[in-house]
Amino acid sequence: MKGQHYIMTGATSGLGLALLKSLLQQHVQVTVLARNPQKIAQLTHSVNAKQLTIIQCDLLNLDDINNVTSQLPNTHIDGLIYSSGTGYFKSLQAHNTDEILETYQINIVNFNVLFKILLPYFTNEASIVGIGSQAAFTTQAYAAHYGASKAAFIQLMNALRLEHPSFHVMTVNTGPVNTPFHNHADPTLKYAKKYQRIMLDPTRLAHDIIEGINKRKIEINQPKWMHVMLKFYNLAPRTLERLFPFVFKNKK
Ligand SMILES: NC(=O)c1ccc[n+]([C@@H]2O[C@H](COP(=O)([O-])OP(=O)(O)OC[C@H]3O[C@@H](n4cnc5c(N)ncnc54)[C@H](OP(=O)(O)O)[C@@H]3O)[C@@H](O)[C@H]2O)c1
Repeated sequence: MKGQHYIMTGATSGLGLALLKSLLQQHVQVTVLARNPQKIAQLTHSVNAKQLTIIQCDLLNLDDINNVTSQLPNTHIDGLIYSSGTGYFKSLQAHNTDEILETYQINIVNFNVLFKILLPYFTNEASIVGIGSQAAFTTQAYAAHYGASKAAFIQLMNALRLEHPSFHVMTVNTGPVNTPFHNHADPTLKYAKKYQRIMLDPTRLAHDIIEGINKRKIEINQPKWMHVMLKFYNLAPRTLERLFPFVFKNKK
């Protein structure tokens, strides 16, 4: 990947930040789209000025997205890593309208808007990497919009792979990762504390994602045991939900 040019979202925190550091170490030229550029401003001091460009872009703002291409340092794009994402661990009725719209706009709708805007600039074999979630594969009481948006995102990525066969399209379906995501999803941190033991390390996951890009994998599912369990669950989902309802309400 050395010398290639990647666009990244979500690079100011958590998994995206770990991915950004890894790309910079490998001498990839990265353009970050960030609503809070100051969060990674110090990184610009540790790398060559040409290696890291930060564009102010709130992914909820269509004007910001439309203005991205006019600010690119290099219009040759070898890859896009869409690591921005959000969600709220609360009941359907507790979500307010802004939270519902934000979840779908960040997790799926504006990914598509950004992809369309960048499309003319992608190289023929560009990598398009999206961070999905294992939450997409199971009923998510008290996180329904998050799970639904990630299920839609995975469908969109699968269709994109078929519509653009020359691209490398990879979806990363991850279980809980130890990142600031949880402070926002559930400020009580009840879920995060309960599942701390099984949370993935963002740096290790970032390493696997970079390896996945190099090997042109089409999916990364982690942790593997969770993915296998969810395959069995999908053989009789409604029955298992009736027998073990507490398992599907663990974000309450
Ligand atoms: N953590 C988990 O347990 C987990 C599990 C499964 C899947 N995922 C997925 O993994 C991906 C990375 O999440 P993470 O855990 O690294 O979460 P995180 O630490 O909360 O990072 C989320 C990133 O998205 C950015 N973002 C959110 N709204 C934005 C907006 N309107 N405009 C621009 N950027 C925006 C944030 O920017 P700011 O820094 O400005 O807030 C931040 O850089 C997400 O897609 C998430 O859904 C996470």
